[in-house]
Amino acid sequence: MRAEVAQWRGAGQSIALVPTMGALHAGHISLVGAGLASADRVVVSIFVNPTQFAPHEDLARYPRDEAGDVAKLAGAGAHLVWAPAVSEIYPDGFATRIVPEGAALPLEGAFRPHHFGGVATVVCKLLLSAMPDIALFGEKDYQQLAVIRQMVRDLALPVAIHGVPTVREDDGLALSSRNAYLSENDRYIAPMLHKALSEVARGRDPREAADALLVAGFTKVDYLEVRDAETLAPFDPAAGRPGRVLGAAWLGSTRLIDNVGF
Ligand code: PAF
Repeated sequence: MRAEVAQWRGAGQSIALVPTMGALHAGHISLVGAGLASADRVVVSIFVNPTQFAPHEDLARYPRDEAGDVAKLAGAGAHLVWAPAVSEIYPDGFATRIVPEGAALPLEGAFRPHHFGGVATVVCKLLLSAMPDIALFGEKDYQQLAVIRQMVRDLALPVAIHGVPTVREDDGLALSSRNAYLSENDRYIAPMLHKALSEVARGRDPREAADALLVAGFTKVDYLEVRDAETLAPFDPAAGRPGRVLGAAWLGSTRLIDNVGF
């Protein structure tokens, strides 16, 4: 991957990196499209990063389809797929970790305490391995995007981070590799999350919207909150800054997250 990228660079071409964990859907393909629109070459990494999953989470059952992914990426016009082994990213003796604070602490950070440490560490390594001009991430994982922007700013990494709008099904459900876990009945209820977040963005009380999710059939709401769109600090209506409504809720054993801006 490095040799290929070095050759492109030598020819004066710009490079975009799209980091993924595979199980690709139209949301990932839109990241590749956005990469092609802003750089000469698009590299896509596929790496299911074990350090961002807690021991009780879904690492073992996380969907994997490398051959299907590669076919989709070829169709989308990506120039290179990089699918490193776990031992390449975390060789024996690996002992360094990035611990993000600030935007990483609330929301997902409260429910998945080590998650963003794993994300920041692997994204830093992917960026330093590929040395792209830009890297693209979906707004679906809005807090992840904020944490990565914060890391890149704090560590002065020489890469521009592009956020790309969430791709949704016709009924509003955000595309996610984890939608594959949903039963037919769960799939029917799932779009209520986006509906509830949109209602809060239009002024509905977040607690009322969370209760409506439980009535609709969600089994648990981890959080449904209004935050500052950039810092993810609690939203201050007097500040005149953009806001973001973020939510995480469970349908049985499947946890869905989504967010809406206003
Ligand atoms: O969003 C994802 O798929 C992952 O969290 C990422 C950014 C590829 C890091 O493992």
